[in-house]
Amino acid sequence: MCGIFGYVGNHKNAANSVLEGLKTLEYRGYDSWGIAAKEQEAKGKEHREFIVEKHTGKIGTKTLGPQLSALGTSLAIGHTRWATHGGVTETNAHPHLDCTKQIALVHNGIVENFNELKTELIKKKHVFVSQTDTEVIVHLIEEELKTKGFVTAVRDAFNQLQGMNAIVVAYAPSTEIIAAKTGSPLAVGLGDDGYVIASDASGIVKHTKKVVFLADYQMAILGDTFKLLQLPDGKEITPHIDMLDWTFENSMMGKYPHFFLKEIHEQPQVIKNIALTYGDQTQKFANLVNKAYGTFMVGCGTASYAALAGTYLFSSIAKKHVNFTIGSEFEYLEDYLTDKTLLIPISQSGETIDVIDPVAKAKKKGVTVAALVNVQGSTLYRLADQKIILGAGQEKAVVATKSFMAMISVLLLTAYSLRQKQELAKELLLKAADNVTSLLQEDSKNTIKKIAEKVKKKEHMYILGRGLSYATALEASLKIKESSYVHAEGFAGGELKHGVMALIEEGTPCIIYAPNDETYQAIISNAQEVKARGAFIIGIGPRTNPVFDEFIETADIKEATMIPQVLVAQLFAYYLALARGIKDPDKPRNLAKSVTVK
Ligand code: AGP
Repeated sequence: MCGIFGYVGNHKNAANSVLEGLKTLEYRGYDSWGIAAKEQEAKGKEHREFIVEKHTGKIGTKTLGPQLSALGTSLAIGHTRWATHGGVTETNAHPHLDCTKQIALVHNGIVENFNELKTELIKKKHVFVSQTDTEVIVHLIEEELKTKGFVTAVRDAFNQLQGMNAIVVAYAPSTEIIAAKTGSPLAVGLGDDGYVIASDASGIVKHTKKVVFLADYQMAILGDTFKLLQLPDGKEITPHIDMLDWTFENSMMGKYPHFFLKEIHEQPQVIKNIALTYGDQTQKFANLVNKAYGTFMVGCGTASYAALAGTYLFSSIAKKHVNFTIGSEFEYLEDYLTDKTLLIPISQSGETIDVIDPVAKAKKKGVTVAALVNVQGSTLYRLADQKIILGAGQEKAVVATKSFMAMISVLLLTAYSLRQKQELAKELLLKAADNVTSLLQEDSKNTIKKIAEKVKKKEHMYILGRGLSYATALEASLKIKESSYVHAEGFAGGELKHGVMALIEEGTPCIIYAPNDETYQAIISNAQEVKARGAFIIGIGPRTNPVFDEFIETADIKEATMIPQVLVAQLFAYYLALARGIKDPDKPRNLAKSVTVK
């Protein structure tokens, strides 16, 4: 869940390129960062060493320290960290060096057998300075280099690692960077003035659109040329070059104070684009569902709520039963999958290990995998038999917004495709996009901002919904939790009297999702029940009700009502975060954009 960036090429400002590259990857982990670059040739100095700069905290708008900024070097590697092993300290930040300070390494993943390897290396007199699993790898390479060349040493050291890992290594005597991966993502940018290596394409698109996404068990050598090798044997293979279909500018914040708000504002276009251009793709998916004996939707976090919503949409619209499971539980439920099963994994990043793993296992059983994924070239994108790219564009805020809207829009269009009623779905989605646009006007945003101000001191909130709105309530609660750090619990309205009601007291904020559908009467009764215990009711839906203390009106557009209703929760969560003094809602504490470790 870390961000890796490296550059080797003709220009002499590699350290700064790496710093700028890391800034575009910071959403992958932001508790500490570091860069290593090779010092210049120095007369009479036999070995050139690495200049390393490491810091705890976010990069933000920081610049390089005096040593690195003065260093006109053409090779540098860097890392932004989400700690797994060892606390958040400068020593544990990457890059890590070996005993000779001749090898610098950055890593994303977990070395599952690092304890055994470390014990052996200590016996061979290697001195460890950090608590990380990563440092083992650089000493392992040092050990191999005693008898082998740089490429072979990295290959043989990497082959000893267990777990999902990605590494990038530099060696003082060499003008090359070597990268290798089994699991965690890595991509190479083939630029005109050199090569960049990064955890994902967001750091590469500024340099070039020509990219090679490394597959598992591959190793790349970047220097004067670019070589791709197969692991474990090191046999050379022909790389598959992809062209990125988005611009660096798209990935910038522009006039917005945060990516969170920028991406919220991009949703009408994302929804319209799906309504108008995804007919064929969703019909193909619908045909797969019709052919399958059992369809499973799986995802994590926000994507799991899209999958849950998918089961309601397919059931109510297409009378089709679809199973739903959260990713991290799916592997314990896979026994009844057959080669006639259809698995629909849903993921923004396409790198979430709790989705990748069960999908890989399911594929071994001959299951057909039809993925909804937002990142081209990601692991899930490459694993899937069929895929729909969600078309939300690059999503940088850790809090997922436009990717969720894209997931719901695609699922709704697919459900109506099963009923051969795509035109109705298009109409509903276009209305939803228009309603989102009107809710994004200043006046309605101010209404939501005022309500957030009113409840900003509350540490507990409850979000109630029934049917499809149960999924809406869960997504709303997640947005509030990860943005404002308030304990927000989403639950099915019918569960209220089975326990949650005990938590309601005078002034407890309760958000009630009341769409104009078969759940309306029952959810209003639930609102009255919590109101009777003193709750402060925020009603969201097409029609108001006396039980509401605050009301935010959204359009009445059948199942697509969910879209503007989630939009309200996104804005509420954003303004609540600001009202509670959270400076950077794009990077919530303890989280990262894609969860690549178990
Ligand atoms: C949502 O705002 C969170 N960032 C998180 O729950 C996320 O949805 C989850 O980690 C799944 O990520 P994915 O869609 O990239 O697989």
